[in-house]
Amino acid sequence: MMTSKYIAGGLGLLLGLGLVDGKAEAQNGDVERGETAAGTCVACHQADGSGMNVPGGESWPRLAGLDAGYIAKQLHDFKADRRHNASMQPFANMLDDQQIADVAAYYSEMPVTAAQGGGDADEALLARGEQLALRGDWDEYIVSCKSCHGPRNEGAGDTFPGIASQHAGYIKSQLHAWQAGERDNDPQNLMGAIAKRMGDDDIRAVSAWLANQSVAPEQGESQ
Ligand code: HEC
Ligand code: HEC
Repeated sequence: MMTSKYIAGGLGLLLGLGLVDGKAEAQNGDVERGETAAGTCVACHQADGSGMNVPGGESWPRLAGLDAGYIAKQLHDFKADRRHNASMQPFANMLDDQQIADVAAYYSEMPVTAAQGGGDADEALLARGEQLALRGDWDEYIVSCKSCHGPRNEGAGDTFPGIASQHAGYIKSQLHAWQAGERDNDPQNLMGAIAKRMGDDDIRAVSAWLANQSVAPEQGESQ
């Protein structure tokens, strides 16, 4: 069908840009040292890396099962003030390069934990969320999330983080941050362009739907 042609074209473009080679050399992390370095992280991200959905407040993202290269990039971005968040930045600032590699290895090895539900989402909203996540909406120029984030939105390589089974509150906050230009650390402004085409209802819909998807632990790592 027509939409899938455009969507495949979108991913082809990314491959052409060399963004999906998955081979970015990452510093070698050590899981055991990572556990020690993560001692200060558990207050928010929890001992099992699950984070927490905080409705009406600032949610803490699940780190468990995210790709190590992605985690490391985000920590370097916080440190260099390329990504901005007052709660998180002081903790990133405490880590040196080796500790960043170590905590990234530590969290990436953890089994993906379940998101804590989409809260108030009704069926119509969830259906819209599923459409955006799996098929996109060509009329609105919104490419499906899965065309970059992986077939089940479980993540693809070190560039595209897993967003299925992430907390609704966190997904929503990131999409709003991209819309407002407050988060702009993504390659080629890929997410900024998408978020700016989404209305508040679309953001609520896709956040709720993704938060209701489970990702089996053994399939959490994709490449
Ligand atoms: C006071 C609470 C708090 C503590 C402690 C904390 N974080 Fe965070 N962390 C956050 C919040 C809030 C965010 C989301 C920031 C945003 O909205 O941009 C975040 C985001 C992250 C991200 C980005 C996740 C993603 O999916 O992009 C990583 C990686 C991370 N934290 C790692 C750590 C590590 C490692 C530590 C310990 C050294 C730590 N955090 C300590 C609150 C915290
Ligand atoms: C063209 C490719 C592309 C598409 C399509 C795409 N994304 Fe992304 N997305 C990215 C990239 C790249 C990142 C990582 C940004 C970074 O490195 O900071 C990302 C990151 C995210 C994050 C942050 C995750 C985290 O852990 O912080 C969320 C939330 C997100 N995307 C949601 C979506 C949703 C919802 C859709 C569908 C409506 C979507 N994305 C479609 C490329 C894409």
